[in-house]
Amino acid sequence: MSDPLTREAIAEYLGGCLFLPERYSFFPSLDSTNTWAARMAAEGAPEGSVVVADGQTLGRGRLGRVWESPPGVNLYFSMILRPRVLPQYSAQMTLITGLALAEAVRGLGVQGVEIKWPNDLLLDGGKLAGILTEMAGEVGKVHYVVVGVGVNVNGEPESYSMEIQPLARSLRGHLQKTVKRAPLLADFLLRFAGWYDRYLREGFAPIREAWVRDSGICGKQVRVNLMEDTFSGEAVDMDREGFLLVRCPGEHQLRRVIAGDIRLL
Ligand code: BTN
Repeated sequence: MSDPLTREAIAEYLGGCLFLPERYSFFPSLDSTNTWAARMAAEGAPEGSVVVADGQTLGRGRLGRVWESPPGVNLYFSMILRPRVLPQYSAQMTLITGLALAEAVRGLGVQGVEIKWPNDLLLDGGKLAGILTEMAGEVGKVHYVVVGVGVNVNGEPESYSMEIQPLARSLRGHLQKTVKRAPLLADFLLRFAGWYDRYLREGFAPIREAWVRDSGICGKQVRVNLMEDTFSGEAVDMDREGFLLVRCPGEHQLRRVIAGDIRLL
């Protein structure tokens, strides 16, 4: 099945939203779409620019991990945003992305996809997609945010290293059929543009409400790994700014997790 991700292939789906076709760049291969997009943003690329690669040679995950990026089968892309928010709120872009991505995946008829705070999409007990949000700014001002998304669309287990194989899930593996990438990417971009527009007009509250409703995490036992600490407890809610609230046994006050690695227990 021919499955191009070029501007021509995607333009027919994008109708006048934030992600105009002229702001869409496709590359057969890049080191990392996030690295490329950050360079473009630093040189002044407008909000709504999207960088897409068919494969990546140095795909990056959170916390310095590698994001394995076999060519021709999956989605690897980065969006440039310039929200007028304080730098600490740039993490909210990750949550908007997770919400729009879960919706787009469900739109394919996939049941059981879960958003795991803050940046993973889980399916059938493994990882379907990851989000890497990076920001440049100064105290009190965001210059730009780059939100990078990797989705395991059609990657077969053998396209990944032995280490990743047991953890990775794909849409193809779940649906037992090949999924076309361009309509999925376009559907995500349109959904993201809708949520982002709402965020700019109404603030974070509608996102929080949808996210809490959608995510599988609230009410579950989690283990939280922070750089300086590790603890377990019940994820009870997301607060008004997007941070996870965790109740630890024997503690009166909820812990507010700003950025961390969460494992469901
Ligand atoms: C994670 O789960 O750790 C985040 C993974 C993010 C991967 C995507 S693929 C497109 C973009 N470019 C990168 O180098 N990383 C992100």
